[in-house]
Amino acid sequence: MTSLLTAEQLSLGEVEDLFGLADSFLEVSSRRMPKVPALRGKTVVSLFFEDSTRTRLSFETAAKRLSADVMTFPVAASSVNKGESVRDTIETIEAMGIDAIVVRHRYAGVPHQIAGWTSASVINAGDGAHEHPTQALLDAFTLRQHFGSVEGLRVAIVGDIRHSRVARSNVALLASLGAEVTLVAPGTLLPPTVAGWPTTTTSELDEVLGSVDVVYLLRMQTERMREHLVPSLREYRARYGLTAERATRMKSGAVIMHPGPMNRGVEIAGEVAELPNALVVDQVRNGVAVRMAVLFWLLGSGVGPHDGPVESDPSGAERTVDG
Ligand code: NCD
Repeated sequence: MTSLLTAEQLSLGEVEDLFGLADSFLEVSSRRMPKVPALRGKTVVSLFFEDSTRTRLSFETAAKRLSADVMTFPVAASSVNKGESVRDTIETIEAMGIDAIVVRHRYAGVPHQIAGWTSASVINAGDGAHEHPTQALLDAFTLRQHFGSVEGLRVAIVGDIRHSRVARSNVALLASLGAEVTLVAPGTLLPPTVAGWPTTTTSELDEVLGSVDVVYLLRMQTERMREHLVPSLREYRARYGLTAERATRMKSGAVIMHPGPMNRGVEIAGEVAELPNALVVDQVRNGVAVRMAVLFWLLGSGVGPHDGPVESDPSGAERTVDG
C-alpha cells in the first residue's frame, strides 16, 4: 500500500491494523511529551487547494508527533495563482524529495491523479464530493472507542449527503464494519447514485430519532451547490436540525457526531453540541491519532504495523536493537 485515496480500498484487516496503531498513538498523544521518532527523516507536504482548519492541522500535528518534517504548501500564495498546473506543482514538490503528500482539492479524483504522477504516498484529505477516508477512519475509531465495536450499530447520517465526501467515505467504511446506515435527507440532498449505496433512506428525521445509536450531522455545503436545494435554512432546521428538544427524544445511550465545521443553529443547536453524549471533541482528538496511524502505516520504513524491529515501534518505547 502506498497511498490512501478511498475508504473502499481498505480491507477489514487493514482497518483493524490501523485502529490498533491508532490505539498506541492515542497513548503517545496523552504523554507530556507527545512525540516519537518513528518518521524521523521523512518529509510530509500538506497541499490544500481548498479551505481547511481541522484536517490540515490534524495531519500536520500527526506528522510532527511522529518526528517527520512538515512542509505546508501555501496554495494561495504560490505559483498556482500564476497559472501553474497541478501536475507541474507536483513535479516541483517531488523534485525536492518528499515522502508523502496530503492533498485536498475541490474536484473529485485529483488525489488519484496526483498518485499517478509521483512516487510519494498520497493521502486524500478530501476531494470534492467524493471521499475523505481519514475522516471515516477517525469516526469509526471514535465509535469503536465509545461502544466497543461498530458492528450492529444503527447510524443515521443527516443532511447534505449529496455534496458530502464525509458521507460517502463513512457509508463505505461503516457498512463494511457491519453498521446499519440510514441516510436522512430531503430528496434534493441525496446523490443520484444513492440506490446503489448499502444504506436505507428516509426524509423524516423524527421517524428514526428514537431508534438509532448515532446521529451524525452534516453541514449544508453551500459552496458546492449550484442551485437552491432547500427552501430556506429555517425550514431545513425545522425538519432536520438536531434541536435541544429533538436531542431529548434520542435513544438512551445514543451519541451525536459532526465532522466540523459546525453551523450552530442550523444542523445542530449550539447547546446540543455541548451535551455529554456529543462526541465532537473526541472525533477531533482521535483524528490526530488516526492520522498518525495512517502516516506510520504508509511511511514506516517498509515494516508492517505490527512486525519489524523494535526500533520502529510506533509507541517510541525503548530501542533495543543493539541490546
Ligand atoms: C468536512 C470536509 O471538509 O469534507 N470537514 C472536515 O474535513 N472535518 C465537512 C465539511 O466541510 O462540512
